[in-house]
Parts: sequence; structure tokens; C-alpha cells
Amino acid sequence: MKIGIIGTGFVGLSFAAALGSKGYQVLAIDSDLDKVKKINTGNPPFYEPKLSTLLKEALKKGLEVSSDIEQAVKTSDLIFITVGTPTTSEGKINLKSLKGVAAEIGQILAHSKNKPVIVIKSTVVPETNRAIKEIIEKESKKKSGKDFGIISNPEFLREGRAVDDTFNPHIVVIGGEDSKTINKVKKFYEGFYKNVPYITTNTQTAEMIKYANNSFLATKISFINQIANICQSIPGTNVDDVAKAIGIDPRIGKQFLKAGPGYGGSCLPKDLRALISFSENFGQDPTLLKAVQKTNTQQVENLISFMTKILTRFEGKKISILGLSFKEDSDDIRESVSINLIKKLLKHKAKIVAHDPMAIENTRKIIGDKISYTKSIDEALKDSECAVIMTPWKLYSKLNNKDLKLMKNKIIVDTRRLLIKKKLDAKYYATGLGLK
Ligand code: UDX
Repeated sequence: MKIGIIGTGFVGLSFAAALGSKGYQVLAIDSDLDKVKKINTGNPPFYEPKLSTLLKEALKKGLEVSSDIEQAVKTSDLIFITVGTPTTSEGKINLKSLKGVAAEIGQILAHSKNKPVIVIKSTVVPETNRAIKEIIEKESKKKSGKDFGIISNPEFLREGRAVDDTFNPHIVVIGGEDSKTINKVKKFYEGFYKNVPYITTNTQTAEMIKYANNSFLATKISFINQIANICQSIPGTNVDDVAKAIGIDPRIGKQFLKAGPGYGGSCLPKDLRALISFSENFGQDPTLLKAVQKTNTQQVENLISFMTKILTRFEGKKISILGLSFKEDSDDIRESVSINLIKKLLKHKAKIVAHDPMAIENTRKIIGDKISYTKSIDEALKDSECAVIMTPWKLYSKLNNKDLKLMKNKIIVDTRRLLIKKKLDAKYYATGLGLK
């Protein structure tokens, strides 16, 4: 069986490397030639733990990477589409790449005897796959279900854990219009995964599952963040103990209850926006989803107020921001609350020194030289008047009194409560704790 994968972002490249490393014949396609060149040297164009090693192994075995979409369409049994679907300025999803790829596939199929199944992994609002099918039918003058198949197969992998999640997904969702095509894709996955629950359904339900999933995760985070904010007004309260206790209730579940500065990244904020805008098109008012979003965007303001109470003013003060990426083990700063906080502190005329093990280069592209950057914790803390832990990188939980000695004023603001159990010779303020 030959596999084509179009789009080499987190999802596409992790999937291509995982399949290739197991000896599957995979042709991964990207239109960006520089990206293709880099990937062919075994280096992913972004930081993702374990991916580089896996990619190198895959390149030695079954994986080829190129820009030759024609070859992929003409020779693959399954063509996975994993191109990005970012947000438009109106909060809708931008289907330009996906529709472009669909048109190309259609044009190639018009002159090919191949009858592939096209599997859409890109996150798209319900009924997009139907539109994609129509584009392919129009361009190829061929019929879905007869000359090619179309499947919606949303993906749930997390950045920072893309490799593990690709090998061990918690679910495989396969949405299609006919059982023959659904079974073909299911059979492929059954050869690759053992003990994974399958949900087979129609395409629009599969598309909806992805949005419901991410919206629910966002809801859990905003819920616990709101509880954390309330905890702050009750002296001695600890949000982590609250989360631990409610998480033991199997009806709630313990994951995604870590209070913090708000969720960021390339998925949760975007998917929530897209679902809100999508439902408003039908005259639905998604009040809960809007509240989740509002709670999240307010978190950075809450943090500024929290810091104002501690520091009184920011002007001229050197503030160390520890962590720029939206989550640990990632260099991704898309919708990172840390970046948002920096922009706001700059408006308050603070002097910012930013530390991150991986995300400095990406941040520099956005913030430029308005702040200083360092990969050294010592340099980040030297003469600082306040250090703010934003991203839960493991190394920040190792901070100790020796590191803090370098600070001008030993004030720590910990939005992830990484240092809560440490005896620090510093004024320690963690969000989510009742101030005594
Ligand atoms: C998310 C979904 O988890 C994944 O299933 C989907 O495929 C893509 O979107 P990702 O964006 O990689 O994955 O990150 P995730 O681990 O979900 O974290 C998103 C944000 O929420 C981060 O900013 C993280 O710090 C924050 N978060 C997460 C919390 O603040 N508290 C939590 O308990 C969990």
C-alpha cells in the first residue's frame, strides 16, 4: 500500500515519519521547497521532541519527501491531506490551502487511472469535506465513491508530544459516505494501531467531533482558570488541590485542569473561534463557547492586575519573562499568552528580558529588539525586579535560591505554580492561591 501525505506540519510530518519508520512506503509532499530540503536532511522545520530521530529512521526506510504532488496523487492508495487551516480576519477558518490542494488533486486525477481514497486530517468545520469532494469532482470530472473516495479523519495529537500521540492515539475517527471507503481506511489503521477505539460515522459528524473535542478541552481550562481566580480571593486556598479532588470524580476527569495564564497555541483558540463563527452563521448564539473564550482572553489582564498589586508600577523595571512558547517542549509561540503579556508590559514601559530554551528565534520575529533575549537563566535573572514563570518548562521547576540571588528584587510570579513546594528566599506569588 502506498501512502501520500500532503502538508508537512506537525500532523503531516509526524505521521509521515511514524509510518516511514515502520517501513510503509510514504511520499510526503510540501510545496515549500526550503522545507522539503530541510526535512530531507532529517531536520524538522520546527522543534518537536523525538521527531528528528524518527524522521532520520524513516528517511532510511520508507519515507520520501518532495514537492511532486502529481506523483503522490497518481501512485498513492491513500492520500492524507494535512495542510494548515488558519483563521481568517473574521475568525473563520481559512480554507485556501485545502481548497488549492483539492483542485490540484482533481486536475491530476482527471488524467490518471488511480482511484485513491483522500483522507482529510486538516481541521475543518462541518460540511467542508463535502465542498472538497465537489471541488475534486468538478476538476477531475470523476465521481466520489466510484473513482475516488473521501474520508474525514480528524487528528488529536498535541504539540510537544506529536510522536507519542501519533503512535498511540486515544481514538481514530473515520467519517465517510460509504462503508467500502470507510472500511478501507479502517483496515489500514488496524494494520498500524493495536487496541485503539474506532468511531466510524459520516463526514460531517467526524468534522464536528474535532471541534467538540477541542472546545471541551478549552472549556475545562477556562473553568479551572475561573476557579483559580476565585481561589485568589480566599486566603489559603489552593487551586491545585481543588483540581486534584474534582479530577478524581470520574465524571470530571483529572486532565486539563491545570490553572494557568490561559490556553494558547495553534489549535484551541483558533478552533473555538471557528466554531463560534460557524454556529453564528446558523443563527445560534454559542453563549458557553463565547464565555470560555472571554474567560481565556481576560486571563492576561488578570495577570497584569495581579502583578500590579505586587509591583505597583512597571515603568523602567526589569522584568524577566520565563517561557515564551505556548506550552513546554515546543518552540511554537502562536497565540502564546506570554507574547501577549510582553506586548502589554511594553506598553507599561517595563524593560523585558525573555528566557526560553527553544522559542527565542520565533519570538524575535514578532517582538524584534524591543526586548532582550537570553538562553541563560542567570542572565535572565540578573538585576531583575520580578521573574514571571509563564511556560511550564521543566527547568523552571529547578530554580533555586542560588539562581535567585542574582535578582535585584527577589519577586517571583508563578503562573503555573511550579515552585510552590520550594522554600524560596524570595517573595513568591503564585496565581490560583489565596493571598494571605
Ligand atoms: C490541542 C489538543 O490538545 C489536541 O488534541 C489537538 O489535536 C490540537 O490542540 P496543543 O495545541 O498541542 O493540542 O496543546 P494542549 O496540550 O492542548 O495545550 C493547549 C494550551 O492549553 C497550552 O497553552 C497549555 O499550556 C494550556 N493548558 C493545557 C492549560 O493551561 N491547562 C491544562 O490543564 C492543559
